[in-house]
Amino acid sequence: MDTVLVTGATGTVGSRVVDRLTDRDVTVRAATRDPADEQFQGDVEPVAFDFEKPETWGAAFGGVDAMFLVRPPAIARVGDSMLPAIDAGARVGVERIVLLSVLGAEQNPLLPHRRIEKHLRDSDATWTFLRASFFMENLLAVHRREITEHGEIVVPAGDGETSFVAADDVAAMAVAALTESGHEYRAYDVTGPEAVTYYDVAHTLSDALDRSVTYEAPSLARFVRHSRRLGRDWSFLLVMAALYTTARLGLAGRVSDDVKRVLGRPTMSFREWAKRNVTAFDPSADEPENNSLNGSE
Ligand SMILES: NC(=O)c1ccc[n+]([C@@H]2O[C@H](COP(=O)([O-])OP(=O)(O)OC[C@H]3O[C@@H](n4cnc5c(N)ncnc54)[C@H](OP(=O)(O)O)[C@@H]3O)[C@@H](O)[C@H]2O)c1
Repeated sequence: MDTVLVTGATGTVGSRVVDRLTDRDVTVRAATRDPADEQFQGDVEPVAFDFEKPETWGAAFGGVDAMFLVRPPAIARVGDSMLPAIDAGARVGVERIVLLSVLGAEQNPLLPHRRIEKHLRDSDATWTFLRASFFMENLLAVHRREITEHGEIVVPAGDGETSFVAADDVAAMAVAALTESGHEYRAYDVTGPEAVTYYDVAHTLSDALDRSVTYEAPSLARFVRHSRRLGRDWSFLLVMAALYTTARLGLAGRVSDDVKRVLGRPTMSFREWAKRNVTAFDPSADEPENNSLNGSE
């Protein structure tokens, strides 16, 4: 593969894919709606790209052999523009497409990723699906403030388990699928090594941060009140409620060894991730800019 286009290149997973690709023998093109000089390190080519602006597609897709495809979490705005963009890419020779999908997409007709998977299956592109579990990074991107300011995690997940995965492991899978053979027409479940409850998450964070973090399995009503107090808008908190309800119902806990088989190494545990991210939970550290969740914005 000579030239790889990374969509979502400024996001949680895409930024890590860009970093990892710079170690490979490929030209890396990083797609963002707002390219700026020195935004990316090394020989990365930033390119203006917007799923909603077909006029940006030609320059982004030209000469590209493989693409990492991220569905931006802004459901309402991006909508169906992804499918024509995929077709445009395939028409100009993007042969291989690696989609960041969601664990369970094959069973859940409500997930937009399922429609994108079907579209890719029906296309001429060589596809790989990375069906990722909840990112560990959500704890920082979405819940950092309640953890640092109040020492609690407020999600309506009951005692359901989640097979959290580190974004870095998702990115490593993407790079393997984009640059190596043997991943064509495969769908991988990209999970961490174990499924844990939010009680476990709170306990592990308390140990790592050396201060108390609690989880009390709040009701949906308390979660909604809490979210409104934090200023989350209704569409975001409804998507969050739906996602955490899947965890409460036990639908987010599937553990797979796909990552270990592909990468030939163990995946990161939540305990290890927490230890590595202690400083990011320091109350005086900068707020992360990104606060999107799986399927939401
Ligand atoms: N969070 C989870 O736990 C989880 C788990 C499994 C799967 N997923 C899936 O992962 C995907 C999100 O990945 P992520 O968390 O890495 O992304 P992210 O951090 O939320 O970043 C979103 C990216 O989308 C880009 N973007 C936004 N609007 C765009 C547009 N109109 N056209 C082109 N690009 C646009 C942004 O780039 P610019 O602003 O620079 O243009 C940004 O790089 C979603 O499909 C989600 O369902 C998430």
